[in-house]
Amino acid sequence: MDDRMQKIVSLCKRRGFVFQSSEIYGGLKSAYDYGPLGVELKRNLMNEWWTFMVHSRENVVGLDASIMMHPKVWEASGHLSGFSDPLVDCLISQERFRADKAPTPSVGDELPMECADKGQAKAYVKAISDRFGIEMIRNGKTLWGLRVISEEEIGFFPKGETEASFKHPFRGYVSPTLGSPFLSEERQFNGMFKTSIGATDPMGAVVSAIENGDFDGLKGNDLRAAIEGITKPSAVYLRPETAQAMFVQFSNIQQSLALKVPFGIAQMGKSFRNEITVEHFIFRSCEFEQMEMEFFCEPGTDDEWMNYWKDARMSWWQRYANDPSKFRLRAHEPDELAHYSKECFDVEYDYPWGWDELEGIANRTDYDLQKHITHSGAKLEYFDPAQNKKFVPYVIEPAAGATRGVLAYLADAYHEEEVEGAKGPETRVVLKLHQRLAPFKAAILPLVKKDGMPEKARDIVDAFLSVGINVKYDAQHAIGRRYRRHDEIGTPFCLTVDSQTLEDGTITIRDRDTMVQRRIPIATAVEEIQELLRASI
Ligand code: GAP
Repeated sequence: MDDRMQKIVSLCKRRGFVFQSSEIYGGLKSAYDYGPLGVELKRNLMNEWWTFMVHSRENVVGLDASIMMHPKVWEASGHLSGFSDPLVDCLISQERFRADKAPTPSVGDELPMECADKGQAKAYVKAISDRFGIEMIRNGKTLWGLRVISEEEIGFFPKGETEASFKHPFRGYVSPTLGSPFLSEERQFNGMFKTSIGATDPMGAVVSAIENGDFDGLKGNDLRAAIEGITKPSAVYLRPETAQAMFVQFSNIQQSLALKVPFGIAQMGKSFRNEITVEHFIFRSCEFEQMEMEFFCEPGTDDEWMNYWKDARMSWWQRYANDPSKFRLRAHEPDELAHYSKECFDVEYDYPWGWDELEGIANRTDYDLQKHITHSGAKLEYFDPAQNKKFVPYVIEPAAGATRGVLAYLADAYHEEEVEGAKGPETRVVLKLHQRLAPFKAAILPLVKKDGMPEKARDIVDAFLSVGINVKYDAQHAIGRRYRRHDEIGTPFCLTVDSQTLEDGTITIRDRDTMVQRRIPIATAVEEIQELLRASI
């Protein structure tokens, strides 16, 4: 990975796009706050999605459902039993990781254990010796001597020896950071955040049960099941996807608006997953925002609609990009498909670390509606008067990450250019954000803070704000520095009030990307920016 990601993270903090949550307390792992510019960028992106998915078509309607739903929703959807990852602990470093994402050395490979520093390496030599009775060979901060001898076993080979002096079961993978094969058993870890609802305190009930001796003699899974039995009545979950509410409310929405299949229900909002591996800034976090739509269609027409939505979604992402070739559609291999999908395509973006997911477009068939029919008894079916028949619709689901979209467009927009500055060549950092995504649409700059220029500039600001266009008055520092500042936060236009303005009522308009300036009358400035914004998609 180049250092672009670090530069983007640093710009995000410096300019008020994204901050680490609770930073003054050391931060909360993988939680982020969108600052004044970040919230504008994210909202603009989500508004564009809503306009495209809901307002520009008659057959898609919106929903804003609650984040906590009846726990049976998650039983029916399979999230309670299936939304889990296999977790393992390294017995030496205590690192906890996902078994299915860990490195998988082959038979014959050496297993060097890479420690953070020499001190840690010495401590781990002792820990391994105490626990397994072998003296690892230390070279600086790397420990040597282990090798994979078969698909089931590793061996320890003392220096110069060809026979293993110690053998240990091999699980097919090692811990990601240390490279350790000394691992705990795998445990399934559910990714949903659990909390409790109501006036009863589940911990109080557990304490009473312990005091009453209700758990006496119970151990392991039996003890766990007994405790879960007490906490279950008040347990609720933070939704791990926005999708389920759209299945659960299918009939209410269809009947209240007398909608005819095919139609879609769209929703944007927060989702929560207790991710074990949080990575790449806002790419994978525990709290994030999704933009999802469930498109209900007649079985048999699903392939056609799948084609329509995968193309529509792909071209939507590309229309706001400087480099559309960094977005691609990738079909899931059969072994990648989620249990509910018949077919799935990912829209991927070429992030600074490589191609990765941005949106999934899945053919979920009638899986979810059928599950909710079975678990709730509700008749989630559609009567088609034209054909005089009932059916349970199939569903095509374009499911996008809004916070991931913010990162993709920041990466697409981040540019460094060599330009001639006042004191010679310099690097211009410019965020070439699409005009409709940019936090401010224009900066209004008085050339100097005198001669009535600030007052004229303020009048222009008022004219923009009165029609709901977000602009920024900026009189701080020399004009060149102000241009650079607005280049860095992606403001597409700078409107400057100068001495000529006072004579003839014109201002300069500077284009962020070309840096070209021209003069326009103040009287047409609002109209001109409105037109540029309209024409930009
Ligand atoms: N309803 C289907 C569903 O939720 P998904 O592929 O798990 O499918 C859809 O999620 C999108 O949500 C992903 O393509 C990604 O953009 C976003 N997403 C998922 N988990 C995320 C996380 N932990 N952090 C940020 N975005 C996430």
